[in-house]
Amino acid sequence: MGSLVFAGAMSHAPGIAAFTSAAEEGQRQRFFAAVEQAREQLAQARPDVLVVIAPDHFANFFIDNMPAACVTTAESYVGPIEDWLGMPKTRIPGAPALARSILARAFANDIEPAFSESVELDHGVMVALKLLTPDLDIPIVWIMQNCQVPPLMSLKRCYALGRAVREAIDASTLRVAVVGTGGLSHAPGAAEADQLDPAFDRHFLSLLDQNAIPEVLALTNERIDAAGFGAWEIRQWVTALGVAHDRKPRTLAYEDIHAWDTGCAVALYE
Ligand SMILES: [Fe+2]
Repeated sequence: MGSLVFAGAMSHAPGIAAFTSAAEEGQRQRFFAAVEQAREQLAQARPDVLVVIAPDHFANFFIDNMPAACVTTAESYVGPIEDWLGMPKTRIPGAPALARSILARAFANDIEPAFSESVELDHGVMVALKLLTPDLDIPIVWIMQNCQVPPLMSLKRCYALGRAVREAIDASTLRVAVVGTGGLSHAPGAAEADQLDPAFDRHFLSLLDQNAIPEVLALTNERIDAAGFGAWEIRQWVTALGVAHDRKPRTLAYEDIHAWDTGCAVALYE
């Protein structure tokens, strides 16, 4: 029987990689200390596959054809697509058998994601992947969730998709790690890009730390919108929460890092 050997969530602001040193030193150190803790725990878990739940940023999907969610089933992936991210383009192995099993379990649970065998990875996947698995040698499954153009999946639906992902993991013979990556408050490219919403971010993280799942799922679109459209990406955290529904979330760090234009957090679901 397969097992979920690691679960967590973290932000993926491109500034984390592209202009690392622009962040205030104390904030940067606290954020990266938490990332290091997550990286160590992930390494000790010795996963066969890492499922990355992350949005796409118009690298593969645009308004001509935007799925609510897409389970990617590639044999391998190349990323990052952005040459300014400061990371060499790397080919990362895929895990198409687990990806197809995730699709099957989702459909069996009345959730119908799209699928794609051919995608490229942008910073949404690559920032967390490079920090958590520096050698980029663990096969991945990327589950894309649209956080760019409404309508978006409800938080309840994200959680349910996560539960289906977990069924596939449990039915496998693999040691599987899961990371949800996105958010927290930010509004990239918008006039209000420099206005973060630490009150929202801390509220969201405190609900996680209290394991208050109904309250997380009841967060309104209006409140999330008010934290900036980048906060829509908390969906990735919620989907990962569905995967790790029997684990307890624990925030390792939160910093509102203006140089990266993002409320940046790291959490483990233990
Ligand atoms: Fe993003």
